Amino acid sequence: MGIFSKMRRTAAVVGIAGFAAVVSAAAFAAGDAKEPKNRDWHFEGIFGTVDRASAQRGLQVYIEVCAGCHSLKQVAYRNLADLGFTEAEIKVIASGFDVTDGPNDDGEMFERPAIPSDRFVSPFPNEEAAKAANNGANPPDLTLQVKAHPGGADYIHALLTGYVDPPAGTEVPEGSNYNAYYAGNFIAMPQPLYADGVEYADGTPATIEQMATDVVNFMQWAAEPEMEQRKKIGFKVVIFLIILSAILYAGKRKMWANVDH
Ligand code: HEC
Repeated sequence: MGIFSKMRRTAAVVGIAGFAAVVSAAAFAAGDAKEPKNRDWHFEGIFGTVDRASAQRGLQVYIEVCAGCHSLKQVAYRNLADLGFTEAEIKVIASGFDVTDGPNDDGEMFERPAIPSDRFVSPFPNEEAAKAANNGANPPDLTLQVKAHPGGADYIHALLTGYVDPPAGTEVPEGSNYNAYYAGNFIAMPQPLYADGVEYADGTPATIEQMATDVVNFMQWAAEPEMEQRKKIGFKVVIFLIILSAILYAGKRKMWANVDH
């Protein structure tokens, strides 16, 4: 290959990279999203565990508020046993949702109350229906949302508490809402949380902050139900490696003890 064609190619690559940089800079300029605050979460760190009381309240927030628009497809009602719900409680929670089942002997689909082995029932039958009901925007499934965003828990907490008045002179497009933390600031999701929007079964005051914390704790559990198990195993492996290293080191010292250096 001639040196000139090589140079031309390099120039083309540099050109494309430069163009991409300009485009992404423009995209950032359009969305002056605020940096989410770094919060302390119960589930963080190698000894971090699920805050079950909070996650249970978070389930209530999900059911009473978010489930109107967002699915949670990877979680079955019976998985809630993990959060400390009894079998009887899970039956009651499941039966609050209707699932489409079938076909029956007449070839027809029918509705029945959900049972513990069902997955969480989605609010819309398909993506088109979800979009049609939400100004053309699809509310994403919430199962993996905490994992889907960098700093997911902090970001979602900030997003849920980040509905503020737009700066003077900012025109919010029809069907959009202003959010300080959303990239671009205009989000199709209307503010979902308002003080006392739910009445907590355990009497905790339902401030916007509290509900955001609780629903994020719930979503974190939904995203990684095996987290505590994983951390326990990781910890045991580390202890095992430390002991093994000590034994090998002692063995080595003993073997070489009588050898002249
Ligand atoms: C009225 C319907 C509605 C409700 C209720 C609602 N959402 Fe949304 N949500 C949406 C829509 C629509 C989008 C997509 C936004 C967009 O694309 O502009 C969305 C997006 C999101 C996102 C993704 C944001 C991103 O950066 O991609 C998260 C996380 C979320 N919602 C969490 C929640 C939680 C948690 C609740 C309950 C507290 C909730 N939503 C309640 C409609 C809703």
